[in-house]
Amino acid sequence: MRTRQFKLGPMGNLSYLLWDESTASAAIIDPAWEPEKLAEYISAKSLRLECLLLTHAHPDHVNGVPFFTAANPLLPVYLHEADYFMLKERPGALKPVQDGGQIEAGALKIRVMHTPGHTPGSVCYRAGGAVFTGDTLFVGECGRVDLPGSDPEALYESFVKLAAIPDGAAVYPGHSYNGDASTFGAQKRENRYLKLAREGLREDFLAAVL
Ligand SMILES: [Fe+2]
Repeated sequence: MRTRQFKLGPMGNLSYLLWDESTASAAIIDPAWEPEKLAEYISAKSLRLECLLLTHAHPDHVNGVPFFTAANPLLPVYLHEADYFMLKERPGALKPVQDGGQIEAGALKIRVMHTPGHTPGSVCYRAGGAVFTGDTLFVGECGRVDLPGSDPEALYESFVKLAAIPDGAAVYPGHSYNGDASTFGAQKRENRYLKLAREGLREDFLAAVL
């Protein structure tokens, strides 16, 4: 599986294109700003867009969805149901994801981890040794939990789950805040939120995020 990161728009958002070289199956994670740049790349590589994967439903992660669904109303759009209420309009082929589920998009296989906290329906997607962490885990940081629908205690439980991911897995976050990418090994050493969750220090984690 190949991966390309796109830094697009005014908020340091990171969108991702995943594709399988031999079959040209492709998926986009969090199409938001400047979707035409993603489409140009897909076209230039002669890829076939199989689906859109949303880490959560904040506008700066989903505002490029209509660009793709207007061209193909049957394009599957995956999102956890707990974030459906945040969508301004629901795509025709909106499909729920659930913790532990697997999405098959052509030759691509993507696993789902439900990681609520930043939003109730936040998920991380795992594919090809990488974890796409949305606004749950950033390089050296965690997602905001002071927004409507945020839940610091849920974020702690999500970070406990994330702390069990092997060190070699790549971290690809939803924004370029302190860096564009990392590994779980580096984040377990350097990210204080992941360190606190790993050590089971719930009260310290909650004090740090609030
Ligand atoms: Fe967000």
